[in-house]
Amino acid sequence: MRIRTESDGDIAAIGRVVTEALRLLAQSTGTEAGIVERLRAEGGMIFSLVAEEDGQIIGSLVASPARVGQQDGWGLIGPLAVSPARHRQGIGSALMAEALRRLRGSCRGAALVGDPGYYHRFGFRTFPGLGVTGCPPEVVLALPFTDIVPRGELIHHPAFGLNQQE
Ligand SMILES: CC(C)(COP(=O)(O)OP(=O)(O)OC[C@H]1O[C@@H](n2cnc3c(N)ncnc32)[C@H](O)[C@@H]1OP(=O)(O)O)[C@@H](O)C(=O)NCCC(=O)NCCS
Repeated sequence: MRIRTESDGDIAAIGRVVTEALRLLAQSTGTEAGIVERLRAEGGMIFSLVAEEDGQIIGSLVASPARVGQQDGWGLIGPLAVSPARHRQGIGSALMAEALRRLRGSCRGAALVGDPGYYHRFGFRTFPGLGVTGCPPEVVLALPFTDIVPRGELIHHPAFGLNQQE
């Protein structure tokens, strides 16, 4: 299994993996593959990683630029998706490790909206006052790379369609 940057030939397979994996989540909106497409079309990707094995795409992780309050320079991770048949084999962890390695070189921290039971293991945690309007605060997580404290609304790229206040 290899983690690498997406190439044009991966795009359809990424859409399939994202749709199949996110379908398992109760809170899935079914729009996640569309978000990936819009991020790509709008130049909203810091990077898009794939996990590839024997020529098959079995995982995908996208990072996009985000702000916390007025502070830019955050890297938002998501969607993260692994083919359901390949869950719990370390693929999500490998994608995350590479994403954090890359973001450390260019961002003040990483942030995401997701299950704390999964993301705590990578060092993500909640912070007082960090949130996304309409989301329970316990699922809005950050991993600062320095001693900065993220506080305020985690503002996603417009491709997420959250209509957040600028
Ligand atoms: C969540 C997801 C990306 C994890 O990928 P994965 O390749 O299965 O994860 P890993 O094999 O790297 O798992 C690492 C650890 O997390 C645990 N884990 C995996 N999925 C978990 C989950 N949903 N909740 C809690 N723990 C989880 C594994 O048991 C493993 O623990 P261990 O090291 O103690 O054995 C994958 O299950 C997935 O695509 N799920 C559907 C989509 C989704 O939930 N995406 C995230 C949106 S917030």
